[in-house]
Amino acid sequence: MAKIILGIESSCDETAAAVLQQENDRIQILSNIVASSALLQSKYGGIIPEQAAREQLKSIIPVIKEALEQADKKPTDLDEIAVTYGPGLIGSLLVGVETAKVLSQVWQKPLIPVNHLIGHFYANWIQDRISDIGNQKSNVPSFPCIGLLVSGGHSDLVLFKDHGQFKYLGGTRDDAAGECFDKTARILGLPYPGGPEISKLAQKGDPQKFNLPRPMWGSEDYDFSFSGLKTAVSNLIAKTKIDDKNLDDLCASIQQAIIDSLIKKTILAAENNNIEQIIVAGGVAANQELVRQLREQFKGQVLVPPPILCTDNAAMIASAAFFIKPSGALLNIQANPNLSLVY
Ligand code: KG4
Ligand code: ZN
Repeated sequence: MAKIILGIESSCDETAAAVLQQENDRIQILSNIVASSALLQSKYGGIIPEQAAREQLKSIIPVIKEALEQADKKPTDLDEIAVTYGPGLIGSLLVGVETAKVLSQVWQKPLIPVNHLIGHFYANWIQDRISDIGNQKSNVPSFPCIGLLVSGGHSDLVLFKDHGQFKYLGGTRDDAAGECFDKTARILGLPYPGGPEISKLAQKGDPQKFNLPRPMWGSEDYDFSFSGLKTAVSNLIAKTKIDDKNLDDLCASIQQAIIDSLIKKTILAAENNNIEQIIVAGGVAANQELVRQLREQFKGQVLVPPPILCTDNAAMIASAAFFIKPSGALLNIQANPNLSLVY
């Protein structure tokens, strides 16, 4: 019998809902709706939390309605509802969590709270995808595997032993990889979010042109540090005239510095733990150059979701929920902006 879950995601500036179906161990997307206020936020060079929350409030009901309609499902068809309860911006999270609690109560469906960071990894478990990303079938991860999460707020390495069983290995000591893309883009006057902009310009640039730091490169831990990179870029542009050609080279050099740090520690984690599979997740996993170079350098298998499932979406939240048991008391489910992967 197929199991159907409605996923809801509202941790930052995306309001998302998706309906997923699990049948014979295959997880399929029936609908995947994302409304983003990123364009609005880009006018201000970053996210204004109050504004993001207001946009969440406007979009949440229409987005859920559209997800059900596109999936051709009624609330009675659902088995469960899954919602991101953290980490993220408290105002944004509250919109999703409280809406999900009300729907769970009214529709009499169990509610599953999902850690957004874990959710990102579960985009890798979605096998059949809707037509807008091609009807491709892909491998699902097998345990044990190393997980690299690279998003706007997090850069973490974990060792997955099974569903719900993982060991935190390390992470960034300061800025996240995506944050580093966003902040250096801002210094260069490029729009928010910076990752896609920098990676686009980087395609035409020389990654060796500028010598930028790779902090913690040689350390034997699994930690990263990216804040020095934005200072180095600030110092560099104070001394160097940046024209169109230089800008491409600088973007390529920034991207390469981030990629080098991520790949070094990820492969170190896999080799030290004798792991043959790496799963990558989060918005920065949409960076094709990161994926290409990781696949080139790692002797095992590297799984990465298609770009549309790397950035924030609700399909990943529903996917994670297929592997989590409902937790009972609705009132105990509270938005937690500080949730992490360190338990
Ligand atoms: O996972 P995500 O959508 O939201 C968070 O949970 O943070 O990640 C957003 C981050 C942003 O920092 C954005 O600049 C980065 O992902 N990003 C990229 C690319 N696409 C999005 N970074 C590098 N290359 C990309 N193609
Ligand atoms: Zn995210």
